Amino acid sequence: MVAVSEQLKGRSFTRVSDWSADELLEVLELADTLKEAQRRREEHHLLPGRTLGMIFQKPSTRTRVSFEVGIAQLGGTGLYLAAGDLQLGRGETIRDTATVLSRYLDGIMIRTFAQSDVAELAEHAEIPVINGLTDTAHPCQALADVMTIRERLGRLDGVRVAYLGDGNNVCASLMIAAAMLGMDFVAVTPPGYEPEREVVERAQAFARESGGSVALEQDPRAGVRGADVLYTDVWTSMGQEEERERRLRDLAGYGIDDGLVAAAGDGAIVLHCLPAHYGEEITEEVLYGPQSAVWDEAENRLHAQKALLALVIR
Ligand code: CP
Ligand code: NVA
Repeated sequence: MVAVSEQLKGRSFTRVSDWSADELLEVLELADTLKEAQRRREEHHLLPGRTLGMIFQKPSTRTRVSFEVGIAQLGGTGLYLAAGDLQLGRGETIRDTATVLSRYLDGIMIRTFAQSDVAELAEHAEIPVINGLTDTAHPCQALADVMTIRERLGRLDGVRVAYLGDGNNVCASLMIAAAMLGMDFVAVTPPGYEPEREVVERAQAFARESGGSVALEQDPRAGVRGADVLYTDVWTSMGQEEERERRLRDLAGYGIDDGLVAAAGDGAIVLHCLPAHYGEEITEEVLYGPQSAVWDEAENRLHAQKALLALVIR
């Protein structure tokens, strides 16, 4: 049976920077072990009888299915809670919701708009709260991303990641994780689409400690030179639909295509958190091409989150 340390029990995971590099690596280690256990169909009921509530205020394919399947594979139950169907949607406070749900559940996963709502939920809940995406962060995605990079390249330290496109929630969480884990991260965006300055400065402070680096770049060709990983995400995130036309115009030229992959070199892998929009931030050829690790990355959401749940839920 897989052994799990008690040290992280009760902890919330609302943003990457709340955890130490060693704690993130502990998740990755357990994720690798659980991936192998699942591959061999070995039972690993680390959370028998526990219930994970999953609050969704935005749509989801990967996050919903991977959390629901993940808690089931750990011997527990997942409860899908559409935010609009809860009293939360009719004005019940986050504090009251947190207090009541703590009496029923063993953990909460929430996908919503404001990061401050997740922080407030975690502050008042007596059980771990996991951020399943906000407007400014996607920490569970970052866990699966670094797991995939380590799996494919055999290391994290010194790996060069070029993130292309919109400096959004996915970019921010990956940038912080990369900086904490000694990687070299460059955000390649058009003017006005850079990641938030405060997040860049926080990431740069982590990079100074870890020996990594964090930089900004506007030229895609220059940005991908020497990259081990090319990463992109949608140009129009959930909640930004009205800006779509402007974003398509502004971000044109920042999509990952065969030319950009060739400029990075044969050894580079391509990642995308999905969902993808062909011909915008990535081409179908690259997504299904020989250098794509996107489908492993999507699968690794399951393994990384199972590790996270097993470590934090009591
Ligand atoms: N990458 C990701 O979070 O996908 P979903 O929106 O489908 O959950
Ligand atoms: N940046 C995207 C990620 C989707 C998983 C969004 O927030 O919609």
